[in-house]
Amino acid sequence: VGQVVSVGERVSWDRIIGNSPALRSVKGLLERIAAIPVSTVLLIGESGTGKDLMAKAIHDNGVRAPRRFQNVTCSALPETLLESELFGHDRGAFTDAKRQKKGLLELADGGTVFLDEIGETKPSLQVKLLRFLEERAFRRLGGSIDIRVDVRIIAATNRNLKEAMQEGSFRRDFYYRLRVLPVRIPPLRERSGDLPLLVESFIRTFNAIFHKEVRGISPEALAQLESYRWPGNVRELKNVVERAMLLTEGNLLTPADFLKLEDDSGAGLRVLLPSRGLIFSELERNLLTQAIERAGGNQTRAGQLLGWSRDQIRYRMAKFGLLTTVPVEPVRNSSQPLGKTTH
Ligand SMILES: Nc1ncnc2c1ncn2[C@@H]1O[C@H](COP(=O)(O)OP(=O)(O)OP(=O)(O)O)[C@@H](O)[C@H]1O
Ligand SMILES: [Mg+2]
Repeated sequence: VGQVVSVGERVSWDRIIGNSPALRSVKGLLERIAAIPVSTVLLIGESGTGKDLMAKAIHDNGVRAPRRFQNVTCSALPETLLESELFGHDRGAFTDAKRQKKGLLELADGGTVFLDEIGETKPSLQVKLLRFLEERAFRRLGGSIDIRVDVRIIAATNRNLKEAMQEGSFRRDFYYRLRVLPVRIPPLRERSGDLPLLVESFIRTFNAIFHKEVRGISPEALAQLESYRWPGNVRELKNVVERAMLLTEGNLLTPADFLKLEDDSGAGLRVLLPSRGLIFSELERNLLTQAIERAGGNQTRAGQLLGWSRDQIRYRMAKFGLLTTVPVEPVRNSSQPLGKTTH
């Protein structure tokens, strides 16, 4: 049925890999939630943190496991189609409704409906979902009788719903109803210790798929992975290991097997100040040299990489003695004349 898929394979708790305190406490919470089959759950986490995996694990490890797990990506369908997928419709509800059709809430009776990307739903649908959460009843589109089913709702979002609520695109009452049992899944960069375990597990996975016999990863390559910010979280890590497994010719993954990791998430850039501190001008010189190199010596393009104009680049190149001809000094607001020291 369109974008709606039900996932087959059972997810046991040990499929959720990681031993960091942050992940352990999430797993503990999920296990308690799995044991309470009526509770509505909200999974909050960046893309690739494992929301799909965890939703399925909640279902598979509770009494609902033998019944259906229905995954619905709310952003993938236009609003009216999404409504009729969820609630079904009666004959004649709209032009194409030749026959009555059951919705996923009915089909998943006894089971779980996973509403992924709940932050993308429209307020009109949010009202209907809220009613369902509160009364466990709904009507088919064009229908006049209430239908009651026993379905657990697990919702997920990588959006900040509180912000969405404040800007008016997410209903306040629905927000507070969903927030009863929130589970915040920490991004990979906040789960130090999990990365080696995940890499090890992905190596095993891809050894089996690619018929390879990779034994592990070198300390240098691991250090490289650990210094990266992982904006795409576990999904990105999995892809990176997959690519390395394809490229490697030996039985140990080394830095050469990993292409340069580039964080293009821009806005989220965060540079960690080393504990011993740093000399800012050295950092500036270092970044400047890298930009010039990457731009193949083109000063305008090097400037674009650092948010500087060509003049600003030339000025700094001169400052660090990287330019042979000294450019005209840009306008400065410092009262101290350049190059002169007063004693
Ligand atoms: N803790 C984990 N252990 C093992 N595999 C994981 C873990 N977390 C995520 N994965 C794997 O990483 C990939 C992405 O996970 P998933 O699809 O669950 O993320 P998501 O949070 O739903 O992302 P999105 O917001 O983009 O939908 C999947 O292949 C999943 O199996
Ligand atoms: Mg997902």
